[in-house]
Amino acid sequence: MLREPKVLLFLFGAFWSTFAADALGDWWKDTFIYQIYPRSFKDSNGDGVGDLNGITSKLEHLVDIGVSTAWLSPIFVSPMVDFGYDIANFTDIDPIFGTLKDFERLTAKAKTLGLKVVLDFVPNHSSDKHPSFQKSIQRIKPYDEYYVWKDGKIVNGTRQPPNNWLSGFQGSAWEWNAQRGQYYLHQFAVGQPDLNYRSAALRKEMENVLAFWIARGADGFRIDAIALLFEDEGLRDEPVIPNTGLPPTDSGNLEHIYTRDLPEVYEVLKSWRKSVDVLGGDKKILLTEAYTTIPLAMKYYESGGIPMNFVFITNLTGSSKNRDFKRNIDRWLSSMPRGSYAANWVVGNHDNHRAASRFGRNRADQLSMLAGVLPGVGIIYNGDEIGMEDTSLTWDQTVDPAGCNAGPNKYSQYSRDPERTPYQWDNTISAGFSESNRTWLPVNPNYKTLNLLRQKMTVTSHYAVFKKLVGLKKLPVMKTGTAEVILMENNILGVVRRLPDASPVVLLINFSDINVVVDASTWLNVPEELNVYVVSVGVDIAAGTRVNATAFKIPPAASVILV
Ligand code: NOJ
Repeated sequence: MLREPKVLLFLFGAFWSTFAADALGDWWKDTFIYQIYPRSFKDSNGDGVGDLNGITSKLEHLVDIGVSTAWLSPIFVSPMVDFGYDIANFTDIDPIFGTLKDFERLTAKAKTLGLKVVLDFVPNHSSDKHPSFQKSIQRIKPYDEYYVWKDGKIVNGTRQPPNNWLSGFQGSAWEWNAQRGQYYLHQFAVGQPDLNYRSAALRKEMENVLAFWIARGADGFRIDAIALLFEDEGLRDEPVIPNTGLPPTDSGNLEHIYTRDLPEVYEVLKSWRKSVDVLGGDKKILLTEAYTTIPLAMKYYESGGIPMNFVFITNLTGSSKNRDFKRNIDRWLSSMPRGSYAANWVVGNHDNHRAASRFGRNRADQLSMLAGVLPGVGIIYNGDEIGMEDTSLTWDQTVDPAGCNAGPNKYSQYSRDPERTPYQWDNTISAGFSESNRTWLPVNPNYKTLNLLRQKMTVTSHYAVFKKLVGLKKLPVMKTGTAEVILMENNILGVVRRLPDASPVVLLINFSDINVVVDASTWLNVPEELNVYVVSVGVDIAAGTRVNATAFKIPPAASVILV
């Protein structure tokens, strides 16, 4: 008697989890999400820094390339120590970017264009200029517990930080505050004190931030540094990793067992999922930023988020082989929990060197093409769609705290400025980014030839390749077909998407720098004749060419999609 309802429940559960995605509107599935770094996208008022009105004026570009979503890096009130990731007011726009009215106009236009807008939510820390931090210093309740404070250790009569934890931007993660007479934790810059998620009042306040932006049209959030929300209550020293070869101030010398990935993190995410779900409207996306192991990343799915998949950034380089890609792709796909979750593939972001620089100019399209053919969501960084490259900058031009704190001899190993220079719209002054020729970071000198306008007027371009990838994602075979990643002879990788009664979609990547002839038909079990759908820039095969898949010549470093 008792078993039947259970079986029914189970069947319903299984049905629900596969059905839930689209019925409840997982609108992000099988689309590309486009990250906009607001300071560098488009400057509307000639001050050399990008702004909201600039973004609004360029939303047509997102429609043109076919992405579903604009994710905006932080636009909130900030002293800009970490260029917006140090927030002094979570519910207002920084004047450098505009006003709440400007944001309203941006979301209104995005809605009419059918674009979703995702905001950056930075819950781990605030700016030291946030009024709550000032009140915390004065021990005013409940703010006294909003941050992580601790007495110093007295060693041989001198005061020292409470433990050995290191900041992501070099040196101790603790800063002495004379007024309060305690150290505060900052896992990033000194101006970014860590918030204390063991304070219920703080948690409530941060939940209100989510509701505030949803009421103003946000379709979800990218959640910054979520893995760092909690620290060990005993504040124990982290184990030191021997012989890293890193400077002693580098946090890479520690095993982060007490400052990252604590189980409470997932509970907080679940509570955020609940609190955004009750607000109604379209389903909200919660993309979590955690550079962590695959098993720990997967727990974000089960907690209501989508863990950003960084394997293309952290695990693979321009010298990776076909088997390295297969291992990483398969591991992610086979680790995903059952149910209707979306895989995702991050091509680039504002914290890592540009895809075209990491993988080399002749492989600039490789990651986007993989993100296009693999199941799920592609996440690209503004400029990746035109193959923008890193800009090399001198020490004097460096502004990123990660670079500045490393000093003049090491800055280039840490600075994120090279991937943050202005978007290259055309070949006019400041690449069409600003009317001013003084921009917050210099424009890459290659803008005269590498820019969107020029690519729009050229038949073969990164821009044209990207647009075709977006089109591909709309095919039923891409939405529900199987995905196989196959190691082929001579360092070729094959990816095949199949669906009964549909033509397979095949991606072939040549990981060597010589021509390779392959029998793709046999290796991949696909028809002997296929059509070229799109090729990476630099490959001289026209789209639409009918090819013999039993002896197909793949040029050096090429990526080719056949259907
Ligand atoms: C991750 C962000 O992407 C990065 O730019 C920032 O510096 C840190 N989190 C701190 O917020």
